[in-house]
Amino acid sequence: MSVHKEVKIITTHILNEMKFHGEKIAMLTAYDYSMARLVDAAGIDIILVGDSASNVMAGFETTLPITLDNMIYHGASVVRAVHRALVVVDLPFGTYQGNSKEALNSSIRIMKETGAHAVKLEGGSEVKESIIRILSAGIPVMGHLGLTPQSIHKFGTYVVRAKQEEEARRLKEDAKLLEELGCFAMVIEKVPAKLAEEVAQMVKIPVIGIGAGGGVDGQVLVLHDMLGINQEFSPRFLRRYHNLAAEIDGAVKAYISDVRSHDFPNEKEQY
Ligand code: KIV
Repeated sequence: MSVHKEVKIITTHILNEMKFHGEKIAMLTAYDYSMARLVDAAGIDIILVGDSASNVMAGFETTLPITLDNMIYHGASVVRAVHRALVVVDLPFGTYQGNSKEALNSSIRIMKETGAHAVKLEGGSEVKESIIRILSAGIPVMGHLGLTPQSIHKFGTYVVRAKQEEEARRLKEDAKLLEELGCFAMVIEKVPAKLAEEVAQMVKIPVIGIGAGGGVDGQVLVLHDMLGINQEFSPRFLRRYHNLAAEIDGAVKAYISDVRSHDFPNEKEQY
């Protein structure tokens, strides 16, 4: 039996079943209606409306500037397109860290105004109170450990995290804590594959990796990176499934040429 093939919609419980049966979970980001529709129809399990929208949609250097209103706009656009996947929306920087009441209010806004199924936030013990409060309102929470891009100014770089024993030990403690608090899953970003595998074996909830090797329960990539729309970003962990930048360049150049040469529109393309 294959759990994900049997079901019409993906829920947090189905994801748990998938882990239990050793079925890998496939997750991608999406930020708009048209892309989300294609990604959902192709059979993805989880769509993450990531705060990476700050980079790939808005062109900011980091994920810090994107606002809660921006994330709600992207989240609602994605939800309108999706029939099967579980939709998770990132809580943006500054909307959950210092104040658990604000974390709950931000999450309620996301759930009410987008129709998404869950929220994701970055961090472990330092955001414990926020996680407890969000969960107490019945809102499913996905954690995010390892490289947490909202803390880029603390780390200084986007290099691999938790290579040293002390940081690896803290990451494991945080993973255990996220499970104990009741998170339904967690993302682990850019840590050694061996450590990520140990975490996935240690907890019962699904661990979704990005740059964390194949020993975890599922994988996530940023859609624009894996489609080759964004050519500037090429970390070792990224597999490009398409070269959409070249395809778009070719199509736009052909259009410009057809317009300039009076080839477009032709007789059949007018009224
Ligand atoms: O914002 C995002 O796209 C993410 C993924 C990289 C996991 O958090």
